[in-house]
Amino acid sequence: MSSDPLVIFTPSGKRGRFAQGTPILTAARQLGVDLDSVCGGRGICSKCQITPSYGSFSKHNVEVMPDALSAWNAVEQRYQDKRGLKEGRRLGCQATVQGDVVIDVPPESQVHKQVVRKRAEARDIVLNPSTRLFYVEVAQPDMHEPSGDLERLQDALRVQWDIAHVAADLHILQTMQPILRKGDWKVTVAVNLGDAENPARIMHIWPGYYDGSLYGLAVDLGSTTIAAHLCDLQTGEVLASSGVMNPQIRFGEDLMSRVSYSMMNASGADEMTRAVREGMTALFDQVAQEAGIDAGLIVDAVFVCNPVMHHLFLGIDPFELGQAPFALATSNAMRLRATDLGLNIHPAARVYILPCIAGHVGADAAAVALSEAPDKSDDLVLIVDVGTNAEILLGNREKVLACSSPTGPAFEGAQISSGQRAAPGAIERVEIDAVTKLPRFKVIGSDLWSDEDGFDDAIATTGVTGICGSGIIEMVAEMRMHGIVDAPGLIGTTEQTGSAAVFADGRTNSYMVYDGTAAGGPLITVTNRDIREIQMAKAALYSGARLLMDKFGVDKVDRVVLAGAFGAHISTKHAMVLGMIPDAPLDKVTSAGNAAGTGARIALLNTKARAEIEQTVRAIHKVETALEPRFQEHFVNASAIPNAVEPFPILNSIVTLPTATFNTGGGDRSAAGGGRSRRRRA
Ligand code: FES
Repeated sequence: MSSDPLVIFTPSGKRGRFAQGTPILTAARQLGVDLDSVCGGRGICSKCQITPSYGSFSKHNVEVMPDALSAWNAVEQRYQDKRGLKEGRRLGCQATVQGDVVIDVPPESQVHKQVVRKRAEARDIVLNPSTRLFYVEVAQPDMHEPSGDLERLQDALRVQWDIAHVAADLHILQTMQPILRKGDWKVTVAVNLGDAENPARIMHIWPGYYDGSLYGLAVDLGSTTIAAHLCDLQTGEVLASSGVMNPQIRFGEDLMSRVSYSMMNASGADEMTRAVREGMTALFDQVAQEAGIDAGLIVDAVFVCNPVMHHLFLGIDPFELGQAPFALATSNAMRLRATDLGLNIHPAARVYILPCIAGHVGADAAAVALSEAPDKSDDLVLIVDVGTNAEILLGNREKVLACSSPTGPAFEGAQISSGQRAAPGAIERVEIDAVTKLPRFKVIGSDLWSDEDGFDDAIATTGVTGICGSGIIEMVAEMRMHGIVDAPGLIGTTEQTGSAAVFADGRTNSYMVYDGTAAGGPLITVTNRDIREIQMAKAALYSGARLLMDKFGVDKVDRVVLAGAFGAHISTKHAMVLGMIPDAPLDKVTSAGNAAGTGARIALLNTKARAEIEQTVRAIHKVETALEPRFQEHFVNASAIPNAVEPFPILNSIVTLPTATFNTGGGDRSAAGGGRSRRRRA
């Protein structure tokens, strides 16, 4: 057996014997230990920091002596004086092996470190960015061996970093020569490491050692808002997150009206493409400014969006998405350049757009699948991304099904008489008193209930302005729980319900939530028409989910994940009372926040996840709700609150819903069966 010293790395557990004098960085490389380096062991970058451990390690059966590593050297001292090294740290490229040693590689020295996520997530993000920095020393030109500067730079990358066949665009050639000379033939190169379709490529060159970072954008391009996370590609950290309204709203609130705009106006699609790209430019400036970085250092961007936004962003007329069979120009992932899309980031920056699942289930749903990983779930999970169009995934390790369902904008407060978007002053929580049948509520911006002392002062600046999506869900569910609305969706009279808040409103009844008219404020009520809108929206959502359950051959799911900003705010109990989602234990209904945005961030930070989602998407079974005869049947049943036929046993064990019905034969018809015709919102 070799008598060379034993080197053990933690946390990887990799070990090997190395000759005395071997730098720890070299040992790490030979064992495939994930230890970072930008300068290639020249003592410049300090990315290779390690922590040696001394003493007796019975677990590893080694004794590490105080002189197991070479003495602290001048390079380390220089770094210590300039920047400071944490107690106990050494530079892996400077410290050499002298005896058996245990070396810990701290997370910040690992290239493929795990990125911390805010909640217990379905999956970890391992950092594996598209573009990394490499410091190289380039051979100087020689009259006797004529070769181009680029060729010698390529040689340096191959020899010093094992990166072969690296390409360079014209803009690199245009700027490279003075940089090489300014850096005295020592330069830092940002290299996009390429993928299945593209070779490695030089993105940028700095003279000498570049001490900064590289950045990337994860963008969730929604029909209402565009949200961007600016991430540091070396640490995975989100440096700034921001959003702007999608400027396309002026061409239509929902996607179908934008598709119609493009159909009716010859240059409509172009105008909308221009608008969304302008919005993007403003947003990117904003996040770069917030993070205090130069937008020119953003070298990678990942986009997720629904199919219509996908086409409009790419400058493709969405005409075909407006009519059956809803053919996408392409459903594959796209790898483009920022310049193709007129984006104001690094001119060589790469753009990755996640694949679409189908003509109406977009890259945003693919991003949700990447973030929530139903294909890796042991239990059967239903994932619902609630928006104007609900995207629904159902699956486990066995298979994953997907569909979309046209919920319409009611859950966002639109088409509701007192509805509004979630903003300060909007009612977001509601409770109805079991005895008086009168409401109390909370508004966004205050923690107080409307009947608590200090409420008026707390809302003095915002006022009470309307009801947002989560508020209307609680409102209708509470009305149902307290016998103000019956199962078919009719509001009873004061006599029938025992509530003084009910008043006759034309041929139907309405429910008074807040009367601010005396002080010049709004009159906030829930009309029977509002109840109908919510019934239609929730029936569309439920029947999509139910259809996937039929296809899967199940009557219940193990857990439900609500994705999207809206999902984060709704009360699961109230959602269940409404019958929005299938019956499930309340503690098995969780919110995933902006899962599409998280999926975009995963694809940005880990290029391996891109190939993975492309494969996952290919395996997802798409279900077209419009073609399924049972969809209409489920829709009609789901129009009742919670449902005309489904038993909801778990819900019934928690709440007892009144059984009285208010339809006495005249007046308003019951909602069940009276649904509006379905309208596709691609
Ligand atoms: S590898 Fe750069 S300082 Fe050690």
